Parts: sequence; structure tokens; C-alpha cells
Amino acid sequence: MLELNHIQKSFDGSTVLKDISLKINDGEIVSILGPSGCGKTTLLNLILGITDPDQGEIIYDGEDFTKKPMEKRGFNIVFQDYALFPNLNVMKNITYGLKNKPGISTESEVSDLIDLLELREHLDKSIDQLSGGQKQRVALARTMVMKPNILLLDEPLSALDGVIKESIKDRIKTVAREFNLTTIIVTHDPEEALTLSDRVLIIDQGKIAQYGCPGEIVNQPENDFVRHFILNQLEIKRNNIFALFGKGKGVAA
Ligand SMILES: Nc1ncnc2c1ncn2[C@@H]1O[C@H](COP(=O)(O)OP(=O)(O)O)[C@@H](O)[C@H]1O
Ligand SMILES: [Mg+2]
Repeated sequence: MLELNHIQKSFDGSTVLKDISLKINDGEIVSILGPSGCGKTTLLNLILGITDPDQGEIIYDGEDFTKKPMEKRGFNIVFQDYALFPNLNVMKNITYGLKNKPGISTESEVSDLIDLLELREHLDKSIDQLSGGQKQRVALARTMVMKPNILLLDEPLSALDGVIKESIKDRIKTVAREFNLTTIIVTHDPEEALTLSDRVLIIDQGKIAQYGCPGEIVNQPENDFVRHFILNQLEIKRNNIFALFGKGKGVAA
């Protein structure tokens, strides 16, 4: 279990995160949801160990991780821009991390991941030959071969559209479930958060507005921020579509 206790973080005298406390169970998929600039990436960086908190503690499986260096935490991130190596082909990108830590994944485990993420036919391609969704799958595979204890994803779907978005969403879920992997996903899109995760952490200006399962968020919003900024966005999207095309025959009243 990952536990954050009273985490606080400021940059240049302005407080970005205020008293963040939460628990994430093993194997849970949690989304961190909130508008741009509310502190989502900062929170991810604190968990990963790129950034240190000013106050508070980070506990993982009962051990104090607050001062533990990033490379010793065993967490791993897929960055928003994927950060793939453009000069290496797909296979070399996927296995890059194993050069320094051989044996973390066996050849057959790497092969299974390649199949799970449907990358086999692309292995010899260079990165610039791939679509956005394919790049995202390579980034996911490259991170997964390192067998992280926690997988962190920063806006994994924001560069993708429509059908591809749905298919990557499914794959992230499949991989997380298959490996019983604790997965933390940053997003600013309420629909994404509510459909992808077991629990959603909603942040408003550096504070937790609500932390609960999607059903609770939708049915029992705890404050105006959740009601107006999160649920209204969904409602507006829905109304825009219905205004354009009507409710159609497929939609129950
Ligand atoms: N390294 C940094 N130095 C100074 N300010 C930062 C730094 N990182 C983030 N911030 C500020 O912290 C706030 C939250 O940023 P961020 O966590 O990136 O938000 P989000 O990911 O929710 O869009 C922003 O006002 C941003 O400018
Ligand atoms: Mg961000």
C-alpha cells in the first residue's frame, strides 16, 4: 500500500499542494483528476521521487520512502510525451532499460508483453514510423518490462483521439489487471478518470476535493467543485452532442 501523509509542496513561495493525505491499495487503478495547474504532475513527481515534499511523508509497504532516491523506489513513469529514443527501433526501445538491469524480465516475459500490447509487427520499425497510439504502447511496454511496483502515467491519453483513446484505455486496464499493478494516472478529463479507474482523486487548487470510487463521485459529489467543475463538464459534453444530433433511438429516456 502507498500512503501519503500531510504532503505539502511550494514553489517560489506559492503553495502548490496543501496537506495531501491518501492511501492507494495494491493493484488499484487511481486517477488524479483536476484542471490544468492544480498540482497533478507535482503530486506524481513527489510519488516518483523526482521532487521532494516540503512537509509530510510517503510510506510504501510500511517503509518510509520520503527521502528514498527515485531509482531505489521501484516506481516507474510514462511521461506525457512518451520520451522514446528516436534513434532506436521499437524492440530496442522496449528492452533499453534491461541493459542496465538484465534479468528483471525474462525473454519470454518481454515476448508476452509485446503480444499483450500488440506490438509484434512493429518491432523493427523506427519510432517516427509509428502512430500516436503505437508510440504510447511502446512507452507502456518499455516501462512494464522493468516490472515497476507502481506504474505512473501522466496524461497518457491526451495526445490521442477517439477510437485509439478507447483502445489504449482498455489496454492500460488490461495490463494493470493482468499484473495486479498499482497504477496512478494523471488526467484533466473527468470522463477518462471515471471510466478508467477504481478510485478518483479530485484536486482543486492543491487540495483534495474528493477521493472516492466513480459511483460515489457521480452520485454523491461532496462539494460544489466536484458538482460544477467535474460533473458539469460531463453534462455539457453530453448536451452538446444531443443538441447536434438529438437523442436518437439508441438512448433510453
Ligand atoms: N519546478 C517548478 N518550479 C516552479 N513552479 C512549478 C514547478 N512545477 C510546477 N510548478 C507550478 O505548480 C503549479 C502546479 O503545476 P503542475 O503540478 O504541473 O499542475 P498540473 O499537472 O495539474 O497541470 C503550477 O502553477 C506550476 O506553474
Ligand atoms: Mg501536468
